[in-house]
Amino acid sequence: MQDLLKLADLTTENILEILNLADQLKYEQRHGIEHPLLKGKTLGLIFEKPSTRTRVSFEAGFAQLGGHPLYMPGSGSQMGRGEPIRDTARVLSRYLDGIMIRTFSQEAVQELADYADIPVINGLTDYTHPCQVLADLMTIREFKGKLEGLKLCYIGDGNNMMNALIVGGLLTGMTVTVACPEGYDPHPDVQKFAADYPGKFEIHRVPIDAAKDADVVYTDVWSSMGMEEEAEKRQKAFAGYQVNAELMAVTKAGCMVQHCLPAHREEEITEEVLEAHADEIFEEAENRMHVQKAIMVLCMKDEK
Ligand code: CP
Ligand code: NVA
Repeated sequence: MQDLLKLADLTTENILEILNLADQLKYEQRHGIEHPLLKGKTLGLIFEKPSTRTRVSFEAGFAQLGGHPLYMPGSGSQMGRGEPIRDTARVLSRYLDGIMIRTFSQEAVQELADYADIPVINGLTDYTHPCQVLADLMTIREFKGKLEGLKLCYIGDGNNMMNALIVGGLLTGMTVTVACPEGYDPHPDVQKFAADYPGKFEIHRVPIDAAKDADVVYTDVWSSMGMEEEAEKRQKAFAGYQVNAELMAVTKAGCMVQHCLPAHREEEITEEVLEAHADEIFEEAENRMHVQKAIMVLCMKDEK
């Protein structure tokens, strides 16, 4: 694997290889078995949006692999003053062994990868959040023992999370249903991708229709980073799209709940549902680190 820009670039086999290695690294870390697989390597972490989980899990995970992470807030670099991405890519390639980037446009991440000679990992764009969904798949497999044949239901905005979950879910043999208001559908490219999986993907307008018999219910904030100005309008549009006890009542017995976090309690999810599923949701947050370690190893082990 050269880069991780979006899940649609991966095969099912690629995903399973990442998840298997992540399980192994999690086991080793839990049992005090050191694994300095990227000893002496340096990873740049570019953040043009805020982060808690992504920053800390990449930094801690890369240190556990024996590497040296370098935090690079966009606003503190020349990128924030307009230096072209293609120039940044060619400069950073001469210092670093890999780059993780969190930014707005997917095109910017693609340009970075096109001009960089080193692996590029997408740490979230407006379009997708592949590291998060790989951690979600790892967590679902951990709790349910499998992915294939499960029904994954996403309630809420057609944002980066919905886009990535549709692709990741379909690639791993799940049926994916989503519920969103009109005007907040998943990206057209993702709908095109899903069209190759007849009978495995549905868009609903009524949340309980999507959630019926679900094995996993997923939700995320109604206003993503960068959409703060639309918050009031979105609160109204998503008013009926809350993951609550009433919605959970139509799911399969033992249905899991996942949330990428941060969560807005009593908006997209009730405190009651979040706390009832806290063990699954915080395991999911932990798994960000394990899965990203696997991604870094698979992308960077053969570099320089
Ligand atoms: N889920 C996630 O990516 O969290 P952060 O924004 O805290 O990195
Ligand atoms: N959809 C959210 C995900 C945060 C991890 C956002 O982009 O802000």
